[in-house]
Amino acid sequence: MNAPARIIAAAAPMAMLAELTHRCPLSCPYCSNPLELTRKSAELSAAQWGEAFRQAAAMGVLQLHLSGGEPASRRDLEEITRAAVEAGLYTNLITSGIGLTRKRLEALADIGLDHVQLSVQGTEAAAADAVGGYRGGFVRKMAVAEDIKALGFPLTLNAVMHRRNLDHLEATVAMAERLGARRLEVACVQVHGWAAKNVAQLVPSREQAIAAREVVRAARVRLRGSMVIDFVPPDYLAEFPKACMGGWGSTGLNVTPEGLVLPCHAAQTIPGMRFDNVAETPLREIWERSASFNAYRGDDWMQEPCGSCERKAIDHGGCRCQAAALAGDAAATDPACSKSPRKADVAAMASGGDPAADFTYRVAPR
Ligand code: SF4
Ligand code: FES
Repeated sequence: MNAPARIIAAAAPMAMLAELTHRCPLSCPYCSNPLELTRKSAELSAAQWGEAFRQAAAMGVLQLHLSGGEPASRRDLEEITRAAVEAGLYTNLITSGIGLTRKRLEALADIGLDHVQLSVQGTEAAAADAVGGYRGGFVRKMAVAEDIKALGFPLTLNAVMHRRNLDHLEATVAMAERLGARRLEVACVQVHGWAAKNVAQLVPSREQAIAAREVVRAARVRLRGSMVIDFVPPDYLAEFPKACMGGWGSTGLNVTPEGLVLPCHAAQTIPGMRFDNVAETPLREIWERSASFNAYRGDDWMQEPCGSCERKAIDHGGCRCQAAALAGDAAATDPACSKSPRKADVAAMASGGDPAADFTYRVAPR
């Protein structure tokens, strides 16, 4: 374990994101997995995941998000889910749907999986498959969505929004209604990780973003009581940043396929930060004492303008990973903030480059 500079009392986390694998049949141009993926041979075993879940439950974690890559790429997903259910955790499967058959979904229902979050890349096949880089993906997803509905899982539909699909927001809302989703998450893409290779093609124009805000407002009124819509506008439109992760090391933790415990899913993009492995160090010790989790807890690490800002307990200075990516310093004010001297760089993302250029994919489309 890294020697911590200081230890700050941390309440127990609420949620854990378990990235079971980096393997994925899709190749989205905004993939949030690290640029360097973990090999299958280095992934934690089902037994190791089970031990991590028991430790998480013992320290107060309530919700477990089973994610990836594509978690269904693991043949032992059912065994892993059973371990999570037996540990007493509320289980949410975050999936592209590819690799989930009706039989597997039935097995997961029998085991006690609580909730499914299905990602979609668009509202019609050609455009959606072009974004996901996987021909036939859309049709497959729609079949999986019907199975999810038929089996009675509560469903969240997750649609990353960007320049090439934000004009289809109304159709996305209609799709969520049709599929019986209880929640729709429509977040405009964050431009770190792989998305940084496709900024011009992904960041929506100001006109698109303003129109989308209006679509969401009207849909929320119409669907009140039947579906919740979480909308995250592009950063350049917001006056202040989001409280990313609810504040670093405050409510959740992520575990990578090989067992590294991260304060957020993108924390490996922060240069020089080292992470401890749950296969070697107890989860509670990592949460409470590791240098990575303590790096941005509290506020004594903050620079100006955050250090003396009245909002610092609200947004915690925004996103550390975005500060690292755009300001070159993870302790800087998130450039999404209007008080940041780099706010203009964020705004410029909506107008730079060639939005019509081909995407850069991690793996060539199939
Ligand atoms: Fe938040 Fe820092 Fe901006 Fe204040 S200056 S609003 S604390 S990001
Ligand atoms: Fe890492 Fe925001 S994505 S702190």
